[in-house]
Amino acid sequence: MWYSLTHRLRQFYFGMSAVYLKEDAAFVSSYLNSEEVALFNQLPTFEKKHSVIVAKKMLELALYNPELDPRKLAKLGLLHDIGKVLERSGIVTKSILVIVRFLFPWLYNWLAELGVRNRLFRAFFIHRHHGLVGAQLLAKIGVSSEFLMMIKKHDPRVEPFAPDDPIELKILQQADSTY
Ligand SMILES: [Fe+2]
Ligand SMILES: [Fe+2]
Repeated sequence: MWYSLTHRLRQFYFGMSAVYLKEDAAFVSSYLNSEEVALFNQLPTFEKKHSVIVAKKMLELALYNPELDPRKLAKLGLLHDIGKVLERSGIVTKSILVIVRFLFPWLYNWLAELGVRNRLFRAFFIHRHHGLVGAQLLAKIGVSSEFLMMIKKHDPRVEPFAPDDPIELKILQQADSTY
């Protein structure tokens, strides 16, 4: 509980202070095509920075798994939260969503399901199901079904890791839980 709370506070501080550098943009362009970059650039700064950090962490973890394709891992890390382009929420709104999820998970889940049809709670739906939303956005620009499947189920709070899931998904979840 305390670790989780500290982790959330650290995330909040990170969000407030995130700086997206030229070298981050260059890193993104070296792994994504122009359509993917255009979508990526619609993310808020703190989400772009988070995705770059996750992708770099995955490249570090790839050193322990030399059989894996590092370019695939980096691309997966960069695109995993792309569904958040539709959240259109700043750090304060996002913090409220995270706090409600932390303190009242039943309320968060209920509002997220209401948000399927009710625009008033749409932010809760997109926040909880940003993996699914991201996979739908990426399908429109031709990203392969292998990526779509992993992005759709990258959040273990929505869908727990299954024994037959790919190792790339496990590495993504490991890197994503660090930041
Ligand atoms: Fe996510
Ligand atoms: Fe993430």
